Amino acid sequence: MGKKEAKRKDQFGSKFGIIAAAAGSAVGLGNIWKFPYITGNNGGAAFLIVYLFFIFLIGFPIMTSEFIIGRKTGRNVHGAFERLAPGKTWGKFGYLGIFAAFTILSFYCVVAGWSIEYLINSLSNSFWELTPQQYSDLFDSLVVSGIKPVIYLVIFMSLTALIVMAGVKDGIEKYAKILMPFLLLIIIILDIRAITLPGASKGLEFFFRPDFSKLNAHAVLEALGHAFFSLSLGMGVLITYGAYVGKKENLSTTALQVTIADTVIAILAGVAIFPAVFAFDLNPGAGPGLVYKTLPIVFQQMPAGHFFGFMFFLLLLIAALTSSISLLEVVVAYFVDELKMVRKNATIMAAALITILSILCSLSLGSVKINLFGLSFFDLLDKISSNFALPIGGFSIAIFAGWYLKRKSVKQELTNNNTLQVKWFGIFMFLVKWLAPFGIGVVFLYKLGLFNLFK
Ligand code: PHE
Repeated sequence: MGKKEAKRKDQFGSKFGIIAAAAGSAVGLGNIWKFPYITGNNGGAAFLIVYLFFIFLIGFPIMTSEFIIGRKTGRNVHGAFERLAPGKTWGKFGYLGIFAAFTILSFYCVVAGWSIEYLINSLSNSFWELTPQQYSDLFDSLVVSGIKPVIYLVIFMSLTALIVMAGVKDGIEKYAKILMPFLLLIIIILDIRAITLPGASKGLEFFFRPDFSKLNAHAVLEALGHAFFSLSLGMGVLITYGAYVGKKENLSTTALQVTIADTVIAILAGVAIFPAVFAFDLNPGAGPGLVYKTLPIVFQQMPAGHFFGFMFFLLLLIAALTSSISLLEVVVAYFVDELKMVRKNATIMAAALITILSILCSLSLGSVKINLFGLSFFDLLDKISSNFALPIGGFSIAIFAGWYLKRKSVKQELTNNNTLQVKWFGIFMFLVKWLAPFGIGVVFLYKLGLFNLFK
């Protein structure tokens, strides 16, 4: 059977399935764990505004471009560029995707592992009787406890590998369709409790009333990097998924829906967390433990809180899984296509290599001090992927779609061979060709301090 036929067979079964799978990749720890804590670290509302700007004006057009490249070719990251630019360096883009998948998964598994611990904790009554200080201590001691988080991350990676090995499409589509709406529902219930807590308004103010004096170059770079991370952009996940999208689907509305879904979940997570942080006098800049230290207190305060708490950690884990499988899939697809490995072996090899890195990452938070550039190995991998690899990947995709591909062929794919009307095609091209590369370039130069040279 030819490769083409295989691809066609694997297409997503419904419009909702595509959105659910792409949103499944986008919605993950990035929205619920990372977004609230980096917003907290960077002063709140002003950071949110910069983030939204990047999401819609840079992230969304790049997501659409990834879908265009993927569907046009029906290939994986490497193959897609090879087909559109045969023999050119563009094919090497695949390496960047692999690199990003390795770095992201290494710390992603650690964080997902923490939620397994919390899932188990939430089954015991004593966990629900702790004070805010005790929740905080519980998290701090878990992270540095050495072997325990390592066991959890290995469990998480094994689950990811099992799903990827079994072949992703059926699984992802089926589960994502049911579970994503369910996650949304639980977060909304959490939000209602959080904003009705006494003292909640201070938290909402922190999250929604901007104070631009709190912004600096680093925060802007972090907002840009997180926009890419949260939308799963810049490393080929959505090129790969684009390959499975049917020729009749409207790519730009699909991208817009995924972008909106991802953003709404992140904002709802913030609405659940910040009111609670202020109501209980916690520190919004508490860092990576913010969600784990704050939300158990909110669950404590609501009827059937133990049940909702358990469900929340379960769904967090599932949201993490629908993202981690998309990350591992990028590596596996590449090993299968380029190294001609059998899918099962490719999955085992990729998962084993990443697990080793991930163990180092987890240990670097406690017993084993691995410090590079003043950062723990965990932070280093997080920063390298979000602040460098993904924006550089996004930049390349924008250049490829905006400058390398012919305008006519982009239009053809976006309008399904001129059967759809895409009124704002001109605006889209402007964003891809000019604003996205220019915006990313400016943030980088600014961060590197080049703009300060003239001060
Ligand atoms: N978008 C995912 C999240 O928010 C993480 C991710 C990044 C997944 C890059 C795939 C590619 O958790």
